[in-house]
Amino acid sequence: MLDPLYALARPLLFRMDAESAHHLVFHGLPLVPWLAGSRRPDPKLRVTIAGLTWGGPVGLAAGLDKNGVGLAAWEALGFGAIEVGTVTAHAQPGNPRPRLFRLIEEGGLINRMGFNNLGAAALAETLGRVRDAGRWPKVPVGANLGKSKITPNEEAVGDYLESVAVLKGKADYFVVNVSSPNTQGLRALQDKEPLERLLSAVVPAASGTSVFLKLAPDLEDDALSEAVEVAIQAGCAGIIATNTTTSRPEKTARLDQSGGLSGAPLRPLARQKIGVVLAAAAGKCPVIGVGGISTAEDVREYLTMGCAAVQLYSAFVFRGPGLVSRLHRELARQ
Ligand SMILES: Cc1cc2nc3c(=O)[nH]c(=O)nc-3n(C[C@H](O)[C@H](O)[C@H](O)COP(=O)(O)O)c2cc1C
Repeated sequence: MLDPLYALARPLLFRMDAESAHHLVFHGLPLVPWLAGSRRPDPKLRVTIAGLTWGGPVGLAAGLDKNGVGLAAWEALGFGAIEVGTVTAHAQPGNPRPRLFRLIEEGGLINRMGFNNLGAAALAETLGRVRDAGRWPKVPVGANLGKSKITPNEEAVGDYLESVAVLKGKADYFVVNVSSPNTQGLRALQDKEPLERLLSAVVPAASGTSVFLKLAPDLEDDALSEAVEVAIQAGCAGIIATNTTTSRPEKTARLDQSGGLSGAPLRPLARQKIGVVLAAAAGKCPVIGVGGISTAEDVREYLTMGCAAVQLYSAFVFRGPGLVSRLHRELARQ
């Protein structure tokens, strides 16, 4: 189901290049709190994860608001938590355009954005301004951190630490993102030794702010389980699974573009890998499920599997801005 307004706008937006449509919608964000009023989820849907109370179980996944400029809008649209970023220690333009593609029939996206962002310091300033103005959302705001393109993998730890240092005290939680497919070598940081080195530096540096680890669905089951164990050992507060996939289910192979696939075609793989992550976590840390969620049934399924909460991105593009409050309303009706 689409919002009536979005049903009108979508054909026009979908005629535009995907990133231009994104920017157009983004410019309208300041209007959202005014148009939507506040659509806070039913209080009975609240969930507490690593000491942070989500307004409802459906949160905003990283990547939609890289620079944290839309907090009031995301809250007004009913997201239970808001993850901003990925930001990197150095501001960077990302990959050349076009770098975002729609699979309209399948409800999927392929992106190779490459962490286009204004940098961790700019995000810290933006978040600081919102906090100082007393407009901090009533739902948790996480900062998702990645590695700058110019930083070689051997110096990755220092790069993440720079971001943590400037963002400490500004965000409610951190996410160490080692799972995006569009920064060369990034996913190698999911291997046991580099991951141990990274997390054992970041967790203490965050000095009490919860650190989550975000993993890729393209890891073999054993490697995924190992990464979860490393995260628990290092004191991470939880796991976010999964990021986009570089694999291509049969139908999506028609769109011959490199990058990470998300949305409905990711769902079967994400669901299987979330199962692996849940088994490895064995209740020792919460798991936030991401990948292909677009209906209340999808949310229920991930929660029933054992996820503490979920996040979404792609369905927001296909179903429109009313999606999240609709999902929460349906979940509250149970
Ligand atoms: C255009 C686009 C950009 C993304 N950028 C990021 C990012 O910067 N950092 C990150 O951790 N995940 C990023 N993601 C991945 C999403 O956060 C999410 O893990 C993935 O899309 C699966 O969820 P979905 O099927 O609901 O979209 C991005 C996804 C898309 C579609």
